Amino acid sequence: MSQELFPRGQWKSRVGFILAASGSAIGLGNIVFFSANAYRFGGGAFYLPYLLALFVFGIPVMILEFGLGNFTGRAFPESLHRVAGRKGEFVGWWANLNAGFITMYYITILSWVIGMFFGAFGALWRESLPVPAFGMAEGELSNPYAYFFHMLSTWKPILFVAIVWIFNILIVRRGAETIESATKVFVPLMWIFMVILIIRGVTLDNGVQGVYLLFTPNFSVMKDPAVWQGAFAQTFFSLSLGFGIMTAYASYLPKKSDLTTNSVITSLLDSGFAYIAGLAVFSILFAFAIVPQASTLGMMFFIIPQGIGEMPQNSVTTFGVVFFALLLLAGLTSSVSLVEALVSSMRDKFGWSRKKTIAVASVIGFTGSAIFALPQVVNPGLEDNGTLGLTLLDLVDHWSFSYGLLIIGFCECILVGWVLGADKIRIHLNENSKIKLGLWFDILIKYIIPLALLLVLGYSVWGEVQNGIYGTAYGENYNEKFSFLRFAPRIVVVYWLVICSVVAFVLARRGSFAKAE
Ligand code: ALA
Repeated sequence: MSQELFPRGQWKSRVGFILAASGSAIGLGNIVFFSANAYRFGGGAFYLPYLLALFVFGIPVMILEFGLGNFTGRAFPESLHRVAGRKGEFVGWWANLNAGFITMYYITILSWVIGMFFGAFGALWRESLPVPAFGMAEGELSNPYAYFFHMLSTWKPILFVAIVWIFNILIVRRGAETIESATKVFVPLMWIFMVILIIRGVTLDNGVQGVYLLFTPNFSVMKDPAVWQGAFAQTFFSLSLGFGIMTAYASYLPKKSDLTTNSVITSLLDSGFAYIAGLAVFSILFAFAIVPQASTLGMMFFIIPQGIGEMPQNSVTTFGVVFFALLLLAGLTSSVSLVEALVSSMRDKFGWSRKKTIAVASVIGFTGSAIFALPQVVNPGLEDNGTLGLTLLDLVDHWSFSYGLLIIGFCECILVGWVLGADKIRIHLNENSKIKLGLWFDILIKYIIPLALLLVLGYSVWGEVQNGIYGTAYGENYNEKFSFLRFAPRIVVVYWLVICSVVAFVLARRGSFAKAE
């Protein structure tokens, strides 16, 4: 281990930090996952649980993660090590590893967005394409499905994965300095693109109907615990909580920063973006009577493009290109933060140069992203996911997104609330923040948030047990060569748990941290 002090870097301005943090938060989660979940959980019914989750859980945990990073001046594992020794460090690495899985497939999804972006210039809006790998002739499957599966059954996405990784490497190459420069351009551009989409969406005939659906409350579905689980997981993912990102980003702030106000601004920018994205998405779909009943990926690659394809001829290409460019920009500023969180933790631990750390992280990360982009056709009938990569992505996402982030949220509240003492973080935050936190903050962190997360997690695990993990019918439609995939749900959960836990255990046991400036 290097004994030299290594420079951790610092944001140049408060605006730069807020742009970077909000750029991390605003991502695919806001633009499509929010709309998909909002529809799935009853449109207007979703925004009350979502708002409650935002104010009672999201903002306080964001304050906690910012506070932790600034209090210790270190990324997640070392921060938690300072709070609770090796046990704390274990939780920090576990979060980074779980986030590592998400980073891998997040980048694969971005590679498909690149493919769709190119398609939006023409091919995506043509009648249909043949999908030979699925044994489908031209016209058998309509677009955008045909275009998407045509792309997925080629090796092109692996090339796009490489391109996204190269972009990430270029943006994180000098840490806060290069991230700040990139987000100063990308984030304002994202807002401009979003405004263009909303204006075009709500001015379509009947477009405004979708807006009513998003804002008409429906209290009856709120009795369903699944709505709450959806709202919690969405809030954590969307605000980039439970990844270690916000702690790493706040560790690059000067000690005398107004963290509470920064947390509130970042969270409101993020949820505001989700709402206006919802307006754009729902107005387009309702204008053409398209029911947004789809998985989150289905929403991004099929349902929304289908709506765009129905627009007046002179708007289709422009709208499609702007939509996929927006997804790319938003996704990139989020993936950059995922990579930086990991790089920051590894540098704290090993004291490696930035170049070496990025090289190690991106070789492992690229390999994982490429696996999710594998084109092998497992199910020619397309009843399930179609390709091997997509099947694996769906399985890993199920655990790392719906469970991993909430487990980390629970652990960090316990460690900071009980082991360090929520009051210590509160006092540190109040020293320089305009918004003063009261005792209510301690009560939320120590009791309410962990209890609520435990209930939601318990309910979800109970559901898994009842359904025998993914139900018993999983994999029925796979072709013979891939029939072993019917065991995949169980294998993937074991891999996910074992990899996160064993690697985190080894890292937390091993050596001490490098000394930074
Ligand atoms: N917060 C990021 C998103 O919503 C990860 O996509």
